[in-house]
Amino acid sequence: MSDGRALGGTVEVREAGDVDTPAVERIVEAAFGEHGVAINDVMARLRGVEEDMAVELVAVADDEIVGCVALSRAWLDARERLVDVLVLSPLAVAPERQGRGIGSRLLAEVPPVAERLGAPLVFLEGAPGYYGNRGWSPASTHGLERPSFRIPEPACQVLLLAGHEPWMTGRLVYPDAWWRLDLVGLRDPELGEVERALGGGR
Ligand SMILES: CC(C)(COP(=O)(O)OP(=O)(O)OC[C@H]1O[C@@H](n2cnc3c(N)ncnc32)[C@H](O)[C@@H]1OP(=O)(O)O)[C@@H](O)C(=O)NCCC(=O)NCCS
Repeated sequence: MSDGRALGGTVEVREAGDVDTPAVERIVEAAFGEHGVAINDVMARLRGVEEDMAVELVAVADDEIVGCVALSRAWLDARERLVDVLVLSPLAVAPERQGRGIGSRLLAEVPPVAERLGAPLVFLEGAPGYYGNRGWSPASTHGLERPSFRIPEPACQVLLLAGHEPWMTGRLVYPDAWWRLDLVGLRDPELGEVERALGGGR
């Protein structure tokens, strides 16, 4: 896909295939700790449903997978119609490789890939500081509603792409797999802690 230098090593970002799944799962568990198991579980379910997983990218350094990002399908429940959109989750970099630009490299690949998939919008739940510096903005500022109040408002973020039109407002709807595994938003006490850190609640 593209090459880049990340602190002394060449990093290539390419599309992942089935053969990469074990390495991706290891990265996710290493990066997310105890939450990694549930994230891998939802990824497996999304991969198993036709069309729910849109694309997975991996960052490769020294022939080793060192980071990953996934885009899966969701809907925007707009007044006019359901709009096919994408959700970015997870983004993970091997702990020993973090802070060297690999996460940023993976994120930089998302807009062209999402455009190619025809998505007008990509959503994610994440730290506003990190993503805000990389082209994302709070969904609420574009008339877009989070699927749960348990996603702190500034943490529900969106990337507007070329296909976005002003009428595309409404609520983001996640596919079933996210709810079955209770992976939408946060729950207390973590929710309260994150809300306090972000300086606001609902
Ligand atoms: C978040 C993550 C993907 C970033 O990847 P990375 O390769 O370390 O990031 P980069 O080197 O491109 O960028 C470094 C930036 O990440 C920030 N960062 C690192 N971990 C972070 C975290 N958990 N939350 C918010 N920001 C984080 C650093 O402060 C730095 O910010 P700045 O460039 O705006 O000053 C990676 O640290 C990771 O896998 N973390 C654990 C899993 C996770 O939290 N994923 C994201 C869920 S929202």
